Amino acid sequence: ASRRLVLAIESSCDETAVAIIDAEGNLLANQVSTQIDFHARFGGVVPEIASRKHVEVIVGVVDAALEEATSALGLGGGALAPGELAAVGVTQGPGLVGALVVGVAFAKGLAWAAGVPLIAVNHLEGHLYANLLTTPDLKPPFIFTLVSGGHTMLVHVKAWGAYEVLGETLDDAVGEAFDKVAKALGLGYPGGPIISRLAETGNPHAIEFPRALNRKGDYRFSLSGLKTAVVTYIEQETAAGRAIHLPDLAASFEAAVFDVQYKKARNALRETGAREYCIGGGVAANPHLRAMMIKKLGRQGIRVTVPPQNACTDNAAMIAEVARRKLAEGDFACFDIDADPNMTL
Ligand code: KG4
Ligand code: ZN
Repeated sequence: ASRRLVLAIESSCDETAVAIIDAEGNLLANQVSTQIDFHARFGGVVPEIASRKHVEVIVGVVDAALEEATSALGLGGGALAPGELAAVGVTQGPGLVGALVVGVAFAKGLAWAAGVPLIAVNHLEGHLYANLLTTPDLKPPFIFTLVSGGHTMLVHVKAWGAYEVLGETLDDAVGEAFDKVAKALGLGYPGGPIISRLAETGNPHAIEFPRALNRKGDYRFSLSGLKTAVVTYIEQETAAGRAIHLPDLAASFEAAVFDVQYKKARNALRETGAREYCIGGGVAANPHLRAMMIKKLGRQGIRVTVPPQNACTDNAAMIAEVARRKLAEGDFACFDIDADPNMTL
């Protein structure tokens, strides 16, 4: 265990992911096995299928990560053995309980057999720490926007581990809104990447969609009215026999979502006096959102950090980054921990 390697497992939703990181934060392996194809025909993630797929693939994904790390380290001979790890990290929650249980149980078995500590990681903290993969010197206080399929949160990070959640969504999460709009248009699942590709050639001012709770001092979000407005627009245009211009619709929808995200982030930065901003979660992979925050907040002298694009959607690299820091602090979990589907920041 001289290299202090941490192997981390993520299985909170429909990605089975395993990463290996060293004590200095060098990522030696980053494997993601996605189940998207198995869920796409149902238009969303089916929890029971997710659990079963994790059970099927987890050993193969761990093996692939051990092999990837072996070549990254330039080691000859057999693949890195679990006994050479310093700790095993795992997402404890939040997420789908049956999916989480697979990762937690496997991580326990692996850590126990290897005789190394187990480290429990909060998935939401993982999305935040993904920023450290690009910007190791990110330091609180700062404002963090979490936009994923399950969460929409504006957070004042006062110190590492000291979070003040300024506001959350009252209904749909941002990623969920992307998925529902894509579904209403019959475009497939997940909707985020599809809508963002369409929006590239669209006019964001073509259709005026509502911006909910767009008031100073209000950090809550609401997406369901926007989703309804988009569905109503589709119905009206279809009834009138007009063709829907998908790129304009996608760009206008994105503009309505991201305008609100920008204004609330800017207000939170002003109110708290923080000079740094970062973002995370699947929707943070969106190139328009990333570019808008970098440009508009950057103009105001705010340093904006974004995670690597492939570390925005669920992955184990971000879980490994949290676990690596917990290893340094000796922050270990007991072997009787359970998955916690409702964990919050
Ligand atoms: O973080 P994530 O992988 O899973 C959760 O923890 O929820 O986020 C998945 C969400 C999905 O709703 C997906 O549609 C959205 O992130 N997403 C995007 C993009 N890529 C993924 N939304 C907007 N633009 C994208 N490029
Ligand atoms: Zn996530």
